[in-house]
Amino acid sequence: MGDAGRNHPGSGNAGMNDGERAPWRVAVLGASGLLGRAIAAELAASAGFEVVSTAMSRAGEGLHRLDLTDTPALERFFDTHRPRTVVLAAAERRPDICEHEPARARALNVTAVEAVARAARRHECRVLAISTDYVFDGRDAPYLPDAAPHPLNAYGQSKLDGEEALWSVTRDGCVLRLPLLYGPLEALGESAVTSFIPALQRASAQHPAVIDNWAIRYPTFTLDIAVVIRQILERDAAGRPVDGTHHWSGDEPMTKYAIALNLAERLDLDPSLIVAQSTPTDATPRPFDCHLDSSSLEALGIGKRTPFKQGLDLVLGNWAVVQTG
Ligand SMILES: NC(=O)c1ccc[n+]([C@@H]2O[C@H](COP(=O)([O-])OP(=O)(O)OC[C@H]3O[C@@H](n4cnc5c(N)ncnc54)[C@H](OP(=O)(O)O)[C@@H]3O)[C@@H](O)[C@H]2O)c1
Repeated sequence: MGDAGRNHPGSGNAGMNDGERAPWRVAVLGASGLLGRAIAAELAASAGFEVVSTAMSRAGEGLHRLDLTDTPALERFFDTHRPRTVVLAAAERRPDICEHEPARARALNVTAVEAVARAARRHECRVLAISTDYVFDGRDAPYLPDAAPHPLNAYGQSKLDGEEALWSVTRDGCVLRLPLLYGPLEALGESAVTSFIPALQRASAQHPAVIDNWAIRYPTFTLDIAVVIRQILERDAAGRPVDGTHHWSGDEPMTKYAIALNLAERLDLDPSLIVAQSTPTDATPRPFDCHLDSSSLEALGIGKRTPFKQGLDLVLGNWAVVQTG
C-alpha cells in the first residue's frame, strides 16, 4: 500500500505507546448478513477494534440503516463515523437474481463498491471488499489470486466488475475472494449448505431428493473467515496492511450430494431418499471446481479452518436453539 503519511496507529497515534493505542474503528457494511454478522461479532469481541455496523432491511439495534446505493447517505455515514477500515460484506449474492435483475445486482455489486471506495479514499480509510470464487470458470482449479478470471454467470461478472471498480479508485485495499459459505443462521435459505434441508425432510420413496453430485465446492465457515478478517485488520492497524487480492477457502472438497449425506446423518434422515444428480441441471450456469488457493494469506500466518462436520454441528445445534427459542 503506498500509504506514506496514512493515519495508522503507528503514525496517527504518534507519541502513544501500544498500551494507549486507540481502538481501530471498522465499519462493517452488510453486518446483518450471513458473513457480516460473524465479522462484526468477531471484531466487537476484540479490544483492538471499535465496530460500527450497518444493514438495510434488518437495520435495528446496533445496526445503522445504510442503503449503499444512496451515495449522499454513504458520504454522511463516513462523515459521522470516520472509520479507519471499511469491510464491505453487503452484496446481491443470489446468482438467479443477478441473472434476472442485472440492474439491481450491479447497483449493489458494482456501483456501490465504487461509491464506497471513493468515500473511503476521501477519509483515508482502507477498504476490504468481499468477492467470490465465481469470478472463475471452474475449469482450472486451484486458483491463485492472480489467475485469469472468467465468470460464467451474471453474479460472477458483477462481483468481478465490483473488484475492478474498487481498483479503479484505489490500490490501498484488499479484495478477499471466498467460496460457498455456511455459518450460524437466521434462516435455512441463507446458505446453500442448508437451503435444501426442507427438500431432504420432504423426500419420500416416490419423490426422493435429487441433489447435484457434479460441482465441487469447498464449504467455508463464516466464523473462520471472521478470524481471517480480524487477522488482516490487525495488520492494517499495525501499519503492515494486506493489500491486493487474496483468497480464503475451506480445504474439504465436496459436492452438494456429499453435503446432503452429512446433513442426513446429522438430522437423522434416511440417506436412501437422496439421489445423486451427476450432470448439471441449474438454469444459471455454475462453475465446476473453483478451489481457491489460500497460500498468500497462509504465508502471512493468517488462517483458521474448522472441520466441516464440526462447523455443521455448531450451525445445526444453534439452528435448533433458534427454532425452539
Ligand atoms: N453466501 C455465499 O455462499 C458466498 C460465497 C462467496 C462469496 N460471498 C460473498 O460474501 C459476501 C457476503 O455474503 P452473504 O452471504 O453474507 O450475503 P447475505 O447474507 O445475502 O447478506 C447481504 C447483506 O447485504 C445487505 N444489503 C442488501 N442490500 C443492501 C443495500 N442496498 N445497501 C446496503 N446493504 C444492503 C443486507 O442487509 P439486510 O439483510 O439488512 O437487507 C445484508 O446485510 C458477499 O460479498 C458475497 O458476494 C458469499
